[in-house]
Amino acid sequence: MPHSVRAVIARAKGEPVSIETIEVPDPGPGEVLVGIQACGVCHTDLHYREGAINDEFPFLLGHEAAGIVEEVGEGVTNVAPGDFVILNWRAVCGQCRSCQRGRPWNCFETHNANQKMTLNGQPLSPALGIGAFAEKTLVAAGQATRVDPAARPEAAGLIGCGVMAGLGAAMNTGQVGRGDSVAVFGCGGVGNAAIEGSRLAGAHTIIAVDIDPRKLDLAREFGATHTVDSSQEDPVEAIRAMTGGNGVDVAIEAIGLPSTYEQAFYSRDLAGTVVLVGVPNPEARVELPMIEVFGRGGTLKSSWYGDCLPSRDFPMLVDLYLQGRLDLDRFVSETINLDEVEAAFEKMERGEVLRSVVVL
Ligand code: APR
Ligand code: ZN
Ligand code: ZN
Repeated sequence: MPHSVRAVIARAKGEPVSIETIEVPDPGPGEVLVGIQACGVCHTDLHYREGAINDEFPFLLGHEAAGIVEEVGEGVTNVAPGDFVILNWRAVCGQCRSCQRGRPWNCFETHNANQKMTLNGQPLSPALGIGAFAEKTLVAAGQATRVDPAARPEAAGLIGCGVMAGLGAAMNTGQVGRGDSVAVFGCGGVGNAAIEGSRLAGAHTIIAVDIDPRKLDLAREFGATHTVDSSQEDPVEAIRAMTGGNGVDVAIEAIGLPSTYEQAFYSRDLAGTVVLVGVPNPEARVELPMIEVFGRGGTLKSSWYGDCLPSRDFPMLVDLYLQGRLDLDRFVSETINLDEVEAAFEKMERGEVLRSVVVL
């Protein structure tokens, strides 16, 4: 029997989202039905609503979620009914050329549920293959990772997207280590997670760069040792001055703009690493002198979803949270109801929140 549940739908480009009753099928082979407990509001949800991702309306929004497995389909062995899970949008396939080479975090053929959730018989496009602003959602089994149920769902769910992207940009992609110096450009949810990840990894100097003083205050709470308001001073010079004239070992760009990418490029030390985790718009271009790319050595990297491996990283991060070593609660700016997502988009655009989290 399909399940009729309330969900947040973007019906047409640029129109406010609405609450609708959708149909969620029983899980088929390899699928899992999850009762959603909490789901964060992310920029990507707004990008779907604005038609900036694709035109496959109607969208079922929401993708930073935690909940309880209610039913599993045939052949599912990684989770069972009653498990507390965090959803992910890159379920590893195990068979693509990257998985075969032992690099599952880069999986090139990630899975979603095969069956469609529907609105009045019309198939829905779930945001990032999840669709979790809903009382229940249907995902591929590999999209659900079991974690310690002692964690608050509204905090744990954030590991499913933005917080993982930031933590992983520092810990996985940037390989920040003990004694390193790090600069993080953009201190929203993603950038602040990169700051926390750098602190956890043992960085000695963590420089937060933003144009919004409210975000720099938060960055200090998350573990930044220095802050730079780049609307007031040149961040490249400021970072050099804070690092004995050298620049940082790892510069993390968490905005997705050419100007801040260039700042990150020039603020690193010789042989340092630049990590791009902010998502640029398709028109964005960077121009760099090739002699600088060569002469400075080091590495220019991009971070996909924090280069995470959900089965490895999600349970570990939840444990760090429960031990009091990873502050996820500070990312939860407010908890809201399903019908407050549109208002949360406005707060996000005004820069008032790190994360509004829908609690069901
Ligand atoms: N220089 C410095 N900081 C800037 C600039 C700039 N030119 N422009 C914006 N910022 C700051 C904002 O003040 C804000 O604090 O960058 C931060 C961006 O944070 P959010 O808008 O909250 O975005 P977040 O959720 O952290 O995501 C950041 O990562 O995953 C991607 O799509 C996401 O591209 C986005 C990026
Ligand atoms: Zn997201
Ligand atoms: Zn794969």
